[in-house]
Amino acid sequence: MRHLISVRDLTKEDVKGIVQNALDFKSGKKSFEGILKNKTVISIFFENSTRTRTSFEMAAKRMGAEVINIDYNQSSLKKGETDYDTIINLSAMHPDAFVIRHHESGYPKFLAEFTSIPIINAGDGTNEHPSQALLDTLTMYEIKRALENLKICIIGDIINSRVAKSHMWMAKLFNWELSFYGPTTMLPKKDWIKGIKIEKSIDKALKGKDFVMLLRIQLERKSGQNIPSLKEYNRFFGLKKSNLANAFIMHPGPVNRNVELGSWVMDNHSKGLITKQVENGVYTRMAIFEFCLS
Ligand code: CP
Repeated sequence: MRHLISVRDLTKEDVKGIVQNALDFKSGKKSFEGILKNKTVISIFFENSTRTRTSFEMAAKRMGAEVINIDYNQSSLKKGETDYDTIINLSAMHPDAFVIRHHESGYPKFLAEFTSIPIINAGDGTNEHPSQALLDTLTMYEIKRALENLKICIIGDIINSRVAKSHMWMAKLFNWELSFYGPTTMLPKKDWIKGIKIEKSIDKALKGKDFVMLLRIQLERKSGQNIPSLKEYNRFFGLKKSNLANAFIMHPGPVNRNVELGSWVMDNHSKGLITKQVENGVYTRMAIFEFCLS
């Protein structure tokens, strides 16, 4: 039984095992039915979600678990009970796992110090999104049949991106050639991203890359204040057909159409992997449950 808080806590073998199990669940080589029989998973999202919440729930249910969704508006959180007290009280009911998304960076790690029930981090603030990094890694593995030495550029609001942070740890594990591109106001300080190349133009960002990951401008985190306008952002940092080269296109979602990329990617471009990422999210989260609970 273990938590999944950060990619930093995973070994290369852990990631390889999760990716392989997800692939085996997807291909039918390994059955997921009944693995979580008699288990109860509590899903609690303090921040909005479509993909992560649904795919964790779908994964758990397909594996035979009971899933209890805590609805913020219907819970005693609304009466002023703290997030901490909520988790401690729910822990007293002995669920088998928590899936937690929180708007504050580090909150799942903080909670993990007070409960032995496995906590699966479904995204914390601007810190980490380990299950997204794992499903992205699976998606890239399906294309390249390799995990090592991939060439990847992440474009956009890096400083606010928990996906980019988790991929920085993944890059260290698998010796990826990882680079960033974005407005300087959205790039972290140089010492924080030691060893990561900063690209100078969208063409250079795409040149020779296996994969390009576009990140959402996070308007709810006021990222819009770091750029002149969404239109200007699209002009300099948005992906156009003309600069695509050979890279496959990824985006964790949700997408701001015509800001990070155009509808031409969303609507079935041969290099687009966005819906494949979502599909792989279910199998990856099955493998995460197995990793944490078995
Ligand atoms: N990728 C991702 O975390 O999407 P949701 O916010 O919809 O879960």
